[in-house]
Amino acid sequence: MVVEDEAVDPRIAQQSLQPRKADRIVGAQQFLHRRDVDGEQETCGGAALDRSLGHSMLVRVRARQADRAGGPADAQNGQENSGALVAGVDRVHVGRKPSLDPLCRLLGDELERVNQLIVQRMQSPVALIPQLAGYIVAGGGKRLRPMLTLGCARLCGYRGGRHIALAAAVEFIHTATLLHDDVVDASDLRRGRDTANAVWGNKPPILVGDFLFSRSFELMVADGSLRILEILSRASSVIAEGEVLQLMTANDTRTSEAAYLAVIQAKTAELFAAASRIGAVMAERPLEEEEALDRFGRNLGIAFQLVDDMLDFSAHPTELGKSIGNDFRDGKVTLPVLVAFARGDKGERAFWRRTIEKQDQRAGDLQQAIDLVEKRGALAETLSRARGYVATAIGALSIFRDGTERRALSDAAAFATERGF
Ligand code: IPE
Ligand code: IPE
Ligand code: MG
Ligand code: MG
Repeated sequence: MVVEDEAVDPRIAQQSLQPRKADRIVGAQQFLHRRDVDGEQETCGGAALDRSLGHSMLVRVRARQADRAGGPADAQNGQENSGALVAGVDRVHVGRKPSLDPLCRLLGDELERVNQLIVQRMQSPVALIPQLAGYIVAGGGKRLRPMLTLGCARLCGYRGGRHIALAAAVEFIHTATLLHDDVVDASDLRRGRDTANAVWGNKPPILVGDFLFSRSFELMVADGSLRILEILSRASSVIAEGEVLQLMTANDTRTSEAAYLAVIQAKTAELFAAASRIGAVMAERPLEEEEALDRFGRNLGIAFQLVDDMLDFSAHPTELGKSIGNDFRDGKVTLPVLVAFARGDKGERAFWRRTIEKQDQRAGDLQQAIDLVEKRGALAETLSRARGYVATAIGALSIFRDGTERRALSDAAAFATERGF
């Protein structure tokens, strides 16, 4: 359809290639998985998407659409963190920083195929939908969740072609939650660029988020596995529950760690668990392997959100691609705040009550909050807890044969606590 083609907007490519705004915006290339192969820079995943969206891939997608002449064809347990491990299991820290590169390398062109499908399936004759969806998709992103789906399918020896569409469905769910989450959190920066709500206001991203959720269900239905539909639809409703639960724990310094963990399990870890688990389902592996992958994803997801909450106080916004201090401003009671509050003296507790509970925030308060979480060791504590969850995640893979796949997934898990973005 003509409108649809116009909606895949060359502007998007230009935006994604824009130089960074002074000290605030990073280009999408910041998020691209670059890997060094024999001294040469290659790109993988988000990189392929970003460049392609502007250039070759967009052309290919359009050409295919033109060919078809009409319409798109489509192609646990988080708290059991013993912190124990790792004797003999995938030593990922030796001598180099863990990264997503090994998983990227392992996946070859599969992630690019996922990205292509994402671009195809975000099309609609309603121009604003692909414009807005294309804007956030082209912003980059780590594509971590679809990488888990692809990687876990490989780990389970899956040899078919269904994993591409299912990985795209997983990323669509994630993207939809980001659009909604940025409205709820009134965030202004995502993937190094203004959030969709900052550009279009609140209404379009809410509705386009609904569209992306629905698209992900279309992909799952086309796949045909009721079991996978069950796992991913359950994850979607649990994410929503997590986001609502978070509203209910905000502004309350009496929130328990258990309540905080329940929030992050639901809003983040559930999708990591589902994304990983479906790899075993696709490959028709025994329940034991499904559950191991669920445990892997869930513990990784918890670690990932712990680090996200730490980075909200400590990251460099240019590297993170998001503003920092959002959680503090919104009165979210994350682990850094819980720990700093518990370890704080009387004056410090009064500070947290004023800023978080009463939402009475003044100039300099964010800096003071950052100083306090640092001074009380709350960031170090958060990171250390996250490392424990990563260890549990990696340990969950031990039932699988040691090899490139398992090591790549272990490295991706270890990356969660070493990342600055
Ligand atoms: C952001 O997830 C939302 C959280 C669960 C913290 P990511 O950090 O994976 O976001 P992208 O996809 O890479 O932008
Ligand atoms: C993750 O929580 C939200 C979702 C699971 C969608 P955050 O609100 O901390 O995520 P960011 O920091 O905005 O990416
Ligand atoms: Mg948010
Ligand atoms: Mg956050």
